This record gives sequence, structure tokens and C-alpha cells, in this order.
Amino acid sequence: MAQKKLLFVDCCISNHASRTKKLCNDFLMEFKKKNDVIVETVIINAGSVSSFTGEQLDRRDGFIAQNDYSNEMFNMARQFALADYIVIGAPYWDLSFPSLLKVYIENIMVNGLTFCYAETGMKGLCLAEKLYYITTAGGYILQDYNMGYDYIKAISYVLGIKEAKCISAEGLDIIGNSPDDIVSKVISQLGEI
Ligand SMILES: Cc1cc2nc3c(=O)[nH]c(=O)nc-3n(C[C@H](O)[C@H](O)[C@H](O)COP(=O)(O)O)c2cc1C
Repeated sequence: MAQKKLLFVDCCISNHASRTKKLCNDFLMEFKKKNDVIVETVIINAGSVSSFTGEQLDRRDGFIAQNDYSNEMFNMARQFALADYIVIGAPYWDLSFPSLLKVYIENIMVNGLTFCYAETGMKGLCLAEKLYYITTAGGYILQDYNMGYDYIKAISYVLGIKEAKCISAEGLDIIGNSPDDIVSKVISQLGEI
């Protein structure tokens, strides 16, 4: 049987030693101990994704209308659709996540590759059985307004991914807290997850 593929969407874009990235790396290490997977990483930065202009959307729609997904603009969507597991790592920024992650999502939402329209609405075409969303926050994530994860969970749902899970380390920038201890505690619980 072919080895399963885990896609790591790395949006840990800080220049400093990212705590989110550390949590992601430890999660991936733990996951690989228990699952025989190949990890493919897509690094999200200003060079790897860009938002659409009207002209680019017209071009994209033209390809989609002809059922032609050979252009490289569809590579990220194809990679996302074919992964068996997805891990998204992104810090908690302004109550959600860095805007480049939204740009990535716009790039992978492709009619005919990651979803299609059925009579009842959008139908997911992604193979992944599970998506993990990993984040760290300076304060505490507002439970009633968890806009980063809730959005990603909704995206997973429409793309056909059966299960989504959020792993977070919070309160890292609160004076008196020890960020290393908080991150280590979450890491120590990863085995159970
Ligand atoms: C641009 C920016 C926006 C942020 N917005 C929030 C926020 O809304 N709420 C919060 O609790 N922390 C916020 N933080 C703090 C980060 O969530 C926190 O420092 C996080 O651990 C950074 O992750 P990293 O070490 O992987 O970069 C923000 C940090 C930055 C740089």
C-alpha cells in the first residue's frame, strides 16, 4: 500500500524562533512515531502565495471552464486535495491568523479540484481524513469568537475533510507566564492527541 502523505502548511512567519513552529515540529515528530507518513511542507510567505487580481481570476476561471488544471497555478490545490492528513501551523494574529493563510486558502479553493458544486451546494473533493490546526497565542483565544480555527474548521467541512482538531498554547505573552513551560506542557500532552 502506498505510504500516506501529510501536508504541513507552515504559516509560522515570524523572524524570531517561532513558538508555533516549535509546537508544529514536535507534533509532526509525535505523529510520525505513530503513523507511517511522508511529510510534504508548503511554506506560506509573500513569495509563495499571492492574492488574485481580477485578470488572474478571469484566467483561472477560463482554465476551470475548460476542465484544464495543468497550469502551475493549480499545484497547491492539487497537493492539498491529495494529502491524507493536513497540519496547518499559524500564530494567533488579531483574533485569527496571518492574512497570508487566507490567501493560501483562496489559492487552494478550486472548483473541480478541492470541491465542486452539487445540487445541494458545495461538495468536498479532498481525500484527507483529518486536519490539525496548530496555533499559539500571546493572550487567550476568545472561546466564543475563535475566528481562526472556526474558519479553518468550516473550510475543512466544505472540502470534505472528516475531522478537524485545534491544538493551542495560549497566554504566552502574559507578564509572569513562562512561554517555554506552557508550550512544553502542550507538547507533553501531544501523545494523547
Ligand atoms: C501581528 C500580531 C498580532 C497578534 N495578535 C494577537 C491577538 O489578537 N491576540 C493575542 O492573544 N495575541 C496576539 N499576538 C501575539 C501572538 O499570538 C503570540 O506572540 C504568538 O505566540 C506568536 O507566535 P510565534 O512565536 O509562532 O510567532 C499577535 C502577534 C502579532 C505579531
